Amino acid sequence: MRIDVVTLFPDFVRECAAVGVVGRAQQRKLLQVETWNPRDYTTDRHRTVDSSSYGGGPGMVMLIEPLRKTLEVVRNAAPEPAHVIYLSPQGARLTQGRVEALAKLPRIALLCGRYEGVDERLLAHEVDEELSIGDYVLSGGELAAAVIIDAVGRLQDGALNDAQSAEQDSFSDGLLDCPHYAKPVHDALGSVPEVLLSGDHAAIARWRHKQSLGRTWLRRPELLAQRALDAESRALLDEFRREYVTARN
Ligand SMILES: C[S@@+](CC[C@H](N)C(=O)[O-])C[C@H]1O[C@@H](n2cnc3c(N)ncnc32)[C@H](O)[C@@H]1O
Repeated sequence: MRIDVVTLFPDFVRECAAVGVVGRAQQRKLLQVETWNPRDYTTDRHRTVDSSSYGGGPGMVMLIEPLRKTLEVVRNAAPEPAHVIYLSPQGARLTQGRVEALAKLPRIALLCGRYEGVDERLLAHEVDEELSIGDYVLSGGELAAAVIIDAVGRLQDGALNDAQSAEQDSFSDGLLDCPHYAKPVHDALGSVPEVLLSGDHAAIARWRHKQSLGRTWLRRPELLAQRALDAESRALLDEFRREYVTARN
């Protein structure tokens, strides 16, 4: 998969994409991240990319022309069509489901805004989708782009050393992940649940599923409301609730 990022801070985006799983995915040629600076597509000697907002008020707006030229170069840089995403607090909220769909595309382009944002006419004509990483305002789209690169990059086939770990992550089946434990078995902070040491794979899978259901019920009940549970899952959740109530009394 190829991700093109249009940004005034290409070094920041490149550095974010160079580390950990995503950096490894790039080294393994599973993911290609390219950056494009709109200042390189200006024609004046100040390399101007912004101007004041019509109607007055504080803050600058990113100009149409440098972005239009940059996006034209981006579109022509590879044969695959680029699905252009503008990172914006006004966009649809990014979810794991959307991440999974984006990860299947051959190519996306991420447009990072700065200042008050981008001239609305460019957004209307050049952008396919607007995505937000949450209901708060960042000073630029670069951190949001880095979030998408990471979330999408780790889902590329072969990026994770154990592909199953993504399948077990929170949200991949609409539930939160179960708790995890490592060495030592006994510690001043507590002991590892016995079932995890039993070697009984069916019992371990059942326990993990019960914990996932229970954590989702405790922490993100709205996720459960969006999901139809089969009879076995309902029984496991009831069991978790009973144990939870008993432990609190
Ligand atoms: C200061 S913000 C502009 C906010 C804009 N005036 C508004 O209120 O909708 C500058 C840039 O940061 C990025 N940004 C800010 N918050 C974001 C969020 N929650 N998700 C994605 N991008 C965001 C966008 O690219 C935006 O153009």
